[in-house]
Amino acid sequence: MSKKLFIETLGCAMNSRDSEHMIAELREKEGYETTDDLSVADLILINTCSVRERPVHKLFSELGGFNKKKKQGAKIGVCGCTASHLGEEIIKRAPYVNFVLGARNVSKICEVLHKDKAVEIDINYDESEFAFKDFRSSPFKAYINISIGCDKSCTFCIVPKTRGDEISIPDELILGEAKKVVAKGVKEIFLLGQNVNNYGRRFSGEHEKVNFTELLRRLSQIEGLERIRFTSPHPLHMDDEFIEEFAKNPKICKSMHMPLQSGSTKVLKEMKRGYSKEWFMNRVEKLRAECPDVSISTDIIVAFPGESDEDFEDTLDVVRRVKFDQLFSFKYSPRPETQAQHFTNVVDDEVASNRLSYLQGLNNEIIDEIHKKLVGNVYRVYFESLTKDNHVSGRSDNNVVIKVKGSEELLGEFKNVKITEIGRTILTGEIVA
Ligand code: SAH
Ligand code: F3S
Repeated sequence: MSKKLFIETLGCAMNSRDSEHMIAELREKEGYETTDDLSVADLILINTCSVRERPVHKLFSELGGFNKKKKQGAKIGVCGCTASHLGEEIIKRAPYVNFVLGARNVSKICEVLHKDKAVEIDINYDESEFAFKDFRSSPFKAYINISIGCDKSCTFCIVPKTRGDEISIPDELILGEAKKVVAKGVKEIFLLGQNVNNYGRRFSGEHEKVNFTELLRRLSQIEGLERIRFTSPHPLHMDDEFIEEFAKNPKICKSMHMPLQSGSTKVLKEMKRGYSKEWFMNRVEKLRAECPDVSISTDIIVAFPGESDEDFEDTLDVVRRVKFDQLFSFKYSPRPETQAQHFTNVVDDEVASNRLSYLQGLNNEIIDEIHKKLVGNVYRVYFESLTKDNHVSGRSDNNVVIKVKGSEELLGEFKNVKITEIGRTILTGEIVA
């Protein structure tokens, strides 16, 4: 009987892909199969996120729960960004943990498995060309990493300390991966990097200069590949060439994530984002001029140290003007090993909570307004998952999530769908000819 692996994945898409890599290595080299039942697992992995503080607290209570429920002799491994930054501390606080594996050491999963109390968290370890074994959780769309690490030093962000310096994955490996998944029937790929449009700045070895725009051009030549998505581009690096290619290349989905963080130029400077409010607005205007149907999503941090009422007004001003199609908003959370953790002009927590709920309320009004206008529109939807209420859901090219009545036979299919009913996160429609 095969050994059983229970894996919980927190955080971003990159963590989801790291989990797929670990599953692949463990399946091929150690004969593990995944299970949803913790109590039968021989190996329990938690792939952690450390971008904000809350998940770190949650980690230790969750580990305690795993330890109680696990079957006798089962191993527990802590992986991902929190593993990178807490390292040995995890085993000190939770001595029943068998190993700790950093976000940039995923390829060593089968090694640490056999070394009790191993801590592998070297953020200079280069996995950019590692030939991971193959496993993908969806037969319809595939995540493909295009770089590891991040070269920016946004003052609030712990990622460069958990994932190390940025290294691009050679384009021939990316193209090879894309061709392989397309040959298996995947029609949509999702390119992943902390800062995708910085692609090509540094490779591990000698490599031809290929920037992100060129990589997109090359990928779009793959026959059978219908859709290309990516996350996240950095607003600073959104040059005209990139925006123009985005707009005119029919395989690139018309959905752009533009992480604003703050609408105040003063706060953006403190965050070391490298752009101003005006630059951000200029890029949005250029994008909408080139590509009127584009949907734009964003990330915003409220109550960064020193954020005044006026600064927050600047953020609201950008939100009212851009009308983002999706907004992920967070209260600033001080993180270890970041510059901002030493900033003393902290915003009062009650003020921070009020700002966050005001922003989210405003965004909900905007989303409702946007969605109302979509009723009657027809979108080409790629169906990828079943919902609990006997529907099948998928996305339009510009990232509208839509469900229709139906079952498995729609999965992996493209259909034209007319919107009949709105909701905040998912719309309902019916298939039309
Ligand atoms: N380069 C990635 C960023 C990863 S972190 C990207 O562009 O998607 C994802 C989001 O978490 C960031 O965009 C930011 O809005 C938020 N975030 C990061 N550090 C944070 C912190 N210390 N407090 C609150 N939110 C934070
Ligand atoms: Fe973090 Fe800024 Fe990089 S948000 S991941 S340091 S681009």
